[in-house]
Order: sequence, then structure tokens, then C-alpha cells
Amino acid sequence: PYIIAEPCVDVKDKACIEECPVDCIYEGGRMLYIQPDECVDCGACEPVCPVEAIFYEDDTPDQWSGYINANVDFFDELGSPGGAAKVGKVDFDPAFIKALPPMAE
Ligand code: F3S
Ligand code: F3S
Repeated sequence: PYIIAEPCVDVKDKACIEECPVDCIYEGGRMLYIQPDECVDCGACEPVCPVEAIFYEDDTPDQWSGYINANVDFFDELGSPGGAAKVGKVDFDPAFIKALPPMAE
């Protein structure tokens, strides 16, 4: 699947949401997360993110490799809801993202 990494934190542009044909990009407290089982690897979201936060999993820069797990861990309790629109914003982030210093300029 594709994943969302650090540039999304505290930015949440959300241009990606409109591109996803399966509505698998979910809003957390400080960033958005791609549901790895629902993502069909279409890649439509990747070029539209203005801060280049989206990567194909295997192409994630090393310094952001922890975000691969973050995109999995976010769904520990949420599971696979089958669509982000009906879920809305979830006020949760995996621990290390919650602990990051403020990122927005
Ligand atoms: Fe985040 Fe970029 Fe989407 S900033 S919300 S990944 S368009
Ligand atoms: Fe959607 Fe992006 Fe995956 S548009 S299907 S999250 S590659």
C-alpha cells in the first residue's frame, strides 16, 4: 500500500482524500492515514499532496520508515471500516506521532 509520512503532520491539506477511489484515507488527530488493507495501490493520491507526504510503502525515505507502522497502528482499533467519509475525524494518533513537537509553520 501507499503510506502517509511526516510532512502531513499538522498540515492535513486533504487534497488526497478527493482522489482516492476507495475512500481509504482516514483523518486522525494530527495527520491522515491510509488503511493498508483497503488501499488498492492506485497511486492517485501521491502526486496531489502539496507537501509530498505520500509514498509507495517500499519507497518511503529511511528517516520516515516509522510511518509505515503508524499507518498500520492507527487502524488497530478502527479495523477496516470500508470508507473514511462515514467514519469522520478520529481523535487519535499512534504514540510517537502524538509525541512529536508541533510541525506547522
Ligand atoms: Fe496530508 Fe498531503 Fe493528504 S498533507 S492530508 S497527505 S494531501
Ligand atoms: Fe487511495 Fe492512494 Fe491507495 S488514492 S487507493 S490511498 S494509493
